[in-house]
Amino acid sequence: MGRLAVVILAAGQGTRMKSRLPKVLHPIAGRPMIQYVLDAVAELVEQKAVLVVGYGAEVIREQLGDAVTFVVQEEQLGTGHAVLQAREQVPELADTILVLYGDMPLLSTATLQSLVDTHEARRSSITMLTCIHDDPMGFGRILRDEDGHVLGIVEESDATSEQLAIKELNCGVYCFDATWLWEHLPRLPLRPKGEYYLTDLVGMAVDGGRPVEAIVVDDALETLGINDRLHLARVEGILRQLIREAVMCAGVTLIDPTSTYIDSDVQIDQDTIIYPNTHLQGNTVIGANTLIGPNTIVRDSTIGDNCRVEASVIEGAVVENDVSIGPFAHLRKGAHLAEGVHMGNFGEVKNSYLGRGVRMGHFSYVGDATVGADVNIGAGTVTCNYDGVKKNPTVIEEGAFIGSDAMLVAPVRIGARAQIGAGAVVTHDVPPDSTAYGVPARVRGSEKEGEQVGSSDT
Ligand code: UD1
Ligand code: CA
Repeated sequence: MGRLAVVILAAGQGTRMKSRLPKVLHPIAGRPMIQYVLDAVAELVEQKAVLVVGYGAEVIREQLGDAVTFVVQEEQLGTGHAVLQAREQVPELADTILVLYGDMPLLSTATLQSLVDTHEARRSSITMLTCIHDDPMGFGRILRDEDGHVLGIVEESDATSEQLAIKELNCGVYCFDATWLWEHLPRLPLRPKGEYYLTDLVGMAVDGGRPVEAIVVDDALETLGINDRLHLARVEGILRQLIREAVMCAGVTLIDPTSTYIDSDVQIDQDTIIYPNTHLQGNTVIGANTLIGPNTIVRDSTIGDNCRVEASVIEGAVVENDVSIGPFAHLRKGAHLAEGVHMGNFGEVKNSYLGRGVRMGHFSYVGDATVGADVNIGAGTVTCNYDGVKKNPTVIEEGAFIGSDAMLVAPVRIGARAQIGAGAVVTHDVPPDSTAYGVPARVRGSEKEGEQVGSSDT
C-alpha cells in the first residue's frame, strides 16, 4: 500500500454560476459545496488535502481556515498547470496522487476508495474514473482500442463527430503514480486555447507504454459536477433527498418528505415526527419523541425529547425536554428554555433563561432575563431591556407571578413569589413575597402601603 496524497482543483472562476461568491463556497443543504468533497477524501487520507485556488482565493481561505493546504494558481492555465502548482505542497513521501475537483459534492468515499485500490493493485501510471452517460455534459470522451485498452481522452472541442458519439466520459477524477506524474506534468504541451490539459497525460502514458486504467463509476449521478445554478439546484435536490431517506431510516417520521428541508449536519432522534413545511438548518439537534411543525424553522438550535413546536421560528436556542412552543413563537440567540416550559403564541425570547415549568402563554417579550422555576409570565409582559444605549438584565426569581401587560424596566429584579399587578410598570426591584402594582409600580404587603417599589434604596 502506497501513501496517498490528495489534490483538489478549485481555481476556476466558475463563470457560469454568475456569482461573486467562489463556486465551491456555494451552500448545498447548509454547507459549502467544497465541504462534501473534503469529507469524502478525509476518510481516505490523514494528511490535509492540497486545495488549488485562484478566483476568490482569499474568501475560500477565510472560510476553510487550516482544514486544507492552500496553493494559489495565479493564472488559470488549465487543469494540468493547476496540478503542477500543487507539487511543492504535496507530501514528499506520497506515491499515489488523487486528483479531483471541488465542485463534485456527490462523489462518495467508496467510489474514491475503489479508484485508489484499483490503481494500487495494478500499479498503473494513471487510473481514472469514467461514467457512461447519454448527456455528454461537455465532458472529454474516453478513447479505447478494440480490446478496451485506454488510448486517450479527447476534449469535446477537439473531438470528431465519431468521437462525440462516445458515451464514456472523463469525470476529472484520477489517481497518478507520483514519480511519473511529477516527471511528465512539466512536459505537457501548451494547447491552442492557452491551457495545459491534464488529460493529455493519458496519451503521453499510453505512448510511453505505461499502464493506464479507467474504471466506470457505478452510479453516474455521483460524478455530477456543478457548473451553473441549474446543476446546483439539482445536486441540492439529490442531497436533500438522501438526507431525508437517512433520517427516516433512523426512525424519524416525515409526514411530507418533500416539504421537509433538513441540512446535512442536523441530527434527529427516534420517534420524532416532522410535520410539513419545516426547515431544520445548520447545527441543529432534535431529541426523541418530539413533534416539530408544521410551518417551523429551527436553526442552529438544540431541542430535547418529548417537545412540541408548532408554527414557530427557533434560532440559536436551547430547549430542554417536555417543552411546548407555539404556535407563532420566536426564540432567538441565547434563549434557553428549561424542562417543562410552556411558551404560547406570539412570544419572543432572546438571550434569556426560562427555568423549569415557566409559563409564558401569550404575546410577551423576554430579553436578557433570568427567570426562575415556575414563574408565570402574564399576557403581554415585556422586559424593557434597552434604555436606548445598552441592554440591561432582568431577574425574575422562582414562583413569581407577573400579571398581564406588565412592563419590567431593566435593570430590575422581581423577588421570589412576588406578584406584579396587571398593567404595572416596574422601575425598581420588588422584594420576595410582596405585591407590586400601578404606574410606576408600588409595593403592598411586606413594605409600607403606597411606598414606591425599591425607593428606600435609591
Ligand atoms: C475537464 C477535463 C474533461 C472532463 C471535465 C470533467 C481537462 C482539459 N478536461 O474539463 O476531460 O470531462 O473536466 O468535468 O482537464 N481548474 C483549475 N485551474 C485551471 C482550470 C481548471 O483549478 O486552470 C479547475 C476548475 O476550478 C474546475 C476543474 O479544474 O474545478 C475543471 O475545470 P473545467 O474548466 O470545468 O474543466 P474542463 O476543462 O471543461
Ligand atoms: Ca467543470
